[in-house]
Amino acid sequence: MKEKSTNILSIDPFYPEIDKIMEAAEIIKNGGTVAFPTETVYGLGANALEEAAVKSIYLAKGRPQDNPLIVHISSISQLEGLVEAIPQQAYILMEKFWPGPLTLIFRRTNKIPDIITGGLSTVAIRMPNHNIALELIRYSKLPIAAPSANTSGKPSPTNSSHVIHDLSGKIDMIIDGGSTGVGLESTVLDISGDVPTILRPGGITIEDLLTVLPKVEYDKAIEMTNTNIIPKSPGQKYKHYSPDAKMVIVRGNIEKIIQRTTELCREYEALGMNVGIMATKQTYEKYQNNNILIVGDRELPETIAANLFNVLREFDKIKVDIIIAEAVEEKGIGKAIMNRMKKAAGGKII
Ligand code: TXA
Ligand code: MG
Repeated sequence: MKEKSTNILSIDPFYPEIDKIMEAAEIIKNGGTVAFPTETVYGLGANALEEAAVKSIYLAKGRPQDNPLIVHISSISQLEGLVEAIPQQAYILMEKFWPGPLTLIFRRTNKIPDIITGGLSTVAIRMPNHNIALELIRYSKLPIAAPSANTSGKPSPTNSSHVIHDLSGKIDMIIDGGSTGVGLESTVLDISGDVPTILRPGGITIEDLLTVLPKVEYDKAIEMTNTNIIPKSPGQKYKHYSPDAKMVIVRGNIEKIIQRTTELCREYEALGMNVGIMATKQTYEKYQNNNILIVGDRELPETIAANLFNVLREFDKIKVDIIIAEAVEEKGIGKAIMNRMKKAAGGKII
């Protein structure tokens, strides 16, 4: 692929400078690619209605063509023409959670190019809760297709340096708007069938959804241990969020975790490996190792969500051979944290 000159533009995340937003919107209108912050992770955006523009997203990321993209909008009226019908439950969900980290799967119209949906009859849509993202969509006057702005298979980017690392020279512009808040991607919820089904756990938890819906299920494929189930969300079948190092997750009560992590660390070191420990505020003092990174506070799992992808990338920088990561409780946002950790570890849990 020919090198592009990637313009890096700093924009205030709270009060975006309109002249800068217009410069970025111009690129989108002309079929170019712009990475921008959202409240979850950075996205790599292009005009969702232009096939060639969307193609350059897949090219820059090295993304498999059958993994469909999320279309980002800034107002509910933009749904018109993009989706076949809006189910009653969608209104309730949009009212409660948009703008925010919830992606909804609708039956789509023909206005959406096939390249976005990987040929599926549905389309994923969300309204991000970030002023830069919303203004960019508004000033482009277009729906913006945007996957996470990382090289396919790598951890999603939660600040502009991650995007620069992965995509500099491959896209037209990177907007630097600081660190993202949630740190994990949006929840993907399929509302095109009878029972709303979570295809990817994320920023909006099942507990949140159950405050407004009578019933919500997880897609069976989320548990990944059952490999003969084909996920409804094509993205879930790919290896993901992978640091260069191998990773294992240690699960149990906190004493067990500390004990097992310490033993494992010695075993791997005896094999001559450079070991990294992904610890928490509650545990890091218990370990003796040169490569301990604190991912967050067990009492505040949102802090772990916010830092997880950055910590995975930090371990790559210090070139560890193996990361031993402490499990967290699979409730609330913990469900999404463990989903990403299990994928990063290829399912290896002790
Ligand atoms: O938070 C987010 O969702 C971020 C920011 C940038 O908005 N975006 C993001 O996009 O994570 P991406 O492309 O990395 O993940 C999109 C997920 C994939 O797992 C994909 O398979 C699924 O959404 N998806 C997209 N369209 C779908 C569809 N029609 N049916 C089922 N799953 C779909
Ligand atoms: Mg992604």
